[in-house]
Amino acid sequence: MMTDIVRTQAVQQLLDRAAGISGQAPGPRLNAIVRDLLEALMSVIERHDISESEFWGAVEFLGRGAGELGLIVPGLGIEHFLDLHMDAKDAAAGRVGGTPRTIEGPLYVAGAPLVDGDLTRTNDVNLTDDPDETEELTMSGRVSGPDGEPVENAILHVWHANSKGFYSHFDPTGAQSPFNNRRRIRLGADGRYAFHSKMPQGYSVPPGGAADQLMTALGRHGNRPAHVHFFIEAPGYRTLTTQINFGDDPHARDDFAFGTREGLLPVPDRSGGSPAVHFDFVLQRSASADDEAFSSRPRASA
Ligand code: DHB
Ligand code: FE
Repeated sequence: MMTDIVRTQAVQQLLDRAAGISGQAPGPRLNAIVRDLLEALMSVIERHDISESEFWGAVEFLGRGAGELGLIVPGLGIEHFLDLHMDAKDAAAGRVGGTPRTIEGPLYVAGAPLVDGDLTRTNDVNLTDDPDETEELTMSGRVSGPDGEPVENAILHVWHANSKGFYSHFDPTGAQSPFNNRRRIRLGADGRYAFHSKMPQGYSVPPGGAADQLMTALGRHGNRPAHVHFFIEAPGYRTLTTQINFGDDPHARDDFAFGTREGLLPVPDRSGGSPAVHFDFVLQRSASADDEAFSSRPRASA
């Protein structure tokens, strides 16, 4: 049965008190956010006539599945929505152009080996430490700025899964070295980069886990296309979080985490046998020190 009590004075007062908002003064940011979240939740309870059993079942599910919240957030499109929100703010501020951002995902590990990738001095960088019976991936291109100028002294952070779709540090089989398929590559003055590794397989959420259970309940799957993640940081430029997803993967346009975006779906060139990707990154210039910093999202480290 549909009721209409959220708008009543009693519930509005309950919301103010629960969110710590007193009197007429608008509360600080946290109080205002908590109030809006609570009001949205109460409205959903009312609109869908959620029962006590259903509600406590959901609380139990979230508590039990808390360790997979980092997987559930992208799976529900919320991490992608954060990108859309940042894109919209950028567009309103006239900050357009460059390689699109897309989700970081939950599987970055800080502290990967920092290696020399100045191609005037050295060859392409190897990312893979562990044996992996699959084809070699090569990837190369350049990092430039908005006017096509080479970005000097960039650090390209790169990470991807192995041929089983598992990331080092998060591998349930425990089979991988801590930084397998993870590097920070220091580029030279020309902004060129090149690396080789073992071709990743598409990723799937852990079978039977909370993310998998939720996707199944929603009639969805928990698969991502094969992909390679990047952060690119360089003095004077805005730090970019992005990834390429292989355009010929069956899930290229059916990514459960909504990380695939137009402009980030290169199809590997197989004319030389093993897959080769050429991809150029274009950074925006930084407008403040904040632009050059990483978000303070908590990240794993090893
Ligand atoms: C998830 C896994 C990824 O590898 C990724 O890039 C994004 C999301 C996940 O498990 O939700
Ligand atoms: Fe990933």
